Amino acid sequence: MAAICSEGITEDEAIIATNNDATSCKRYATEKGYWRDEFVKHFCKKAERKSPEISRGYYARVTALHNLVTQFVSLTKTAGLKSQVISLGAGFDTTYWRLCSVGLQPTNYFEVDLATVTSKKCQYIKTKLPLLDALQGSHDPLFGVDEINSTHYHLVAGDLRDTEQLDRKLLAAGVDKKLPTVFITECVLVYIEPKLSSQLIEWAGKHFSTSMFLNYEPQRRYLNNGWSASWAVDMDTVYQQLLPADEISRVERLEFLDEGDLLTQLLRHYCISVGYNDKNDVGLAGVNLHGTAHR
Ligand SMILES: C[S@@+](CC[C@H](N)C(=O)[O-])C[C@H]1O[C@@H](n2cnc3c(N)ncnc32)[C@H](O)[C@@H]1O
Repeated sequence: MAAICSEGITEDEAIIATNNDATSCKRYATEKGYWRDEFVKHFCKKAERKSPEISRGYYARVTALHNLVTQFVSLTKTAGLKSQVISLGAGFDTTYWRLCSVGLQPTNYFEVDLATVTSKKCQYIKTKLPLLDALQGSHDPLFGVDEINSTHYHLVAGDLRDTEQLDRKLLAAGVDKKLPTVFITECVLVYIEPKLSSQLIEWAGKHFSTSMFLNYEPQRRYLNNGWSASWAVDMDTVYQQLLPADEISRVERLEFLDEGDLLTQLLRHYCISVGYNDKNDVGLAGVNLHGTAHR
């Protein structure tokens, strides 16, 4: 039986609701001009007002992760290789559409989430032309109730707590374990029991020989779970030192923030951690938060 939280909803329902909250925060911040994302508005009708601390925190999170994914796709392209993105617990994330809009469509892009979330995402994609347009390819996109299969983009309903089922579903959706692959878990593993999330990280490290695992959360467990190298940096350092200073000045002019202590506290609570295996030697050790990957 599903566990019931104090609010009278099941634990899974509470987890699913975190996606609505993340999407609403992202929509509000993009409306304010923190970063450009023309697609998030299609997944969230209206954004409630959020405090500047929240918007700056999301700015650091989204910009840092996007920067890393972009470098991965660019590096593999430069190395003349195909690339694959697997976003686990993707929610209503828009990275696929943002990459397509700058000509960086990966060969395969997979998103996995619980069926309640993917069925809603399916509906949004099916009915919004700017989202649907990016699914065109050599064959027409196939829509199920909670899954999509198109030439490059694949939406998969699955539970990350069951690695065997995840493996089966991703293979059925067309994952190629030989392709350079970047995994993204943005604020997801915290909702999964540590033993099961370790299994997930281990599964990814064992099966994908040229890969990166980008995780936004307070933890670092790659080396114990089959990855050859890793690094982590807290979000306060990302915000204060690693994102471009002119960008931070621009963002800080958007809204007045009375005092910075709360933002610092919020940023220090999280880190981005990255694990990688680079059997193809595409230069993954050079992917960094300054912007351009160097070998
Ligand atoms: C806080 S939201 C983050 C969504 C998205 N990654 C983002 O940052 O905008 C957490 C997401 O993880 C998903 N999730 C949590 N546990 C999961 C599980 N066991 N299997 C699949 N998805 C899960 C939730 O449904 C939700 O969409």
